[in-house]
Amino acid sequence: MKPMMLIALAASALATSALAQPTPGTGENAVDPHVVSDAGAAPIAGQRMFEAFHGEAGISRIVDDFVTRMVADPRISEIFKATDLVRLRRTLKEQVCYLLGGPCANTGRDMTTTHMDQGVTAADFHAGVENLQAAMTKEGVPSRVQNRLLARLAQMQGDVVER
Ligand code: HEM
Repeated sequence: MKPMMLIALAASALATSALAQPTPGTGENAVDPHVVSDAGAAPIAGQRMFEAFHGEAGISRIVDDFVTRMVADPRISEIFKATDLVRLRRTLKEQVCYLLGGPCANTGRDMTTTHMDQGVTAADFHAGVENLQAAMTKEGVPSRVQNRLLARLAQMQGDVVER
């Protein structure tokens, strides 16, 4: 085996490490081991977006409110019936923080695998955008700043929407 292949294998073994496991006492369930990666949409350069979202504390408030809105939204609540919401909140916070250029890394599963067989439609995706806009507005994030994050998320729509 070539040295480069060995390095790649070792890196992927490391990537499935304990980091991906839930913190005891949070109520989060374990998932099957998976490769952890920041591959996907690239983060927005600089710190200004992260600051405009009021850093990790602001992102945490936005994601908590967003998830609450998603599970209460009659258009899409059915999709979240079996979802571990503790895990969803944690991994979403990581991902939003990462995309905004914050000091976070993704430990969740890749977007295609996660959303496979969830049957998410383009209309469901749009409902998600509306809920996120409401949560960002509540936090006081200006709409031009909101739109930059929404544009990044739109790049991931093909990984989420199935029909
Ligand atoms: C670009 C938009 C989206 C992003 C970035 C995103 C991100 C995520 C993340 C980080 C997770 C958790 C991954 C993990 O458990 O490791 C997740 C799970 C999930 N997402 Fe999304 N999501 C998006 C859009 C949507 C939409 C529009 C819906 C439905 C209306 C949806 C439904 C779900 C469900 C049901 C789960 C839980 C899957 C499971 O229980 O295994 N997502 N999403």
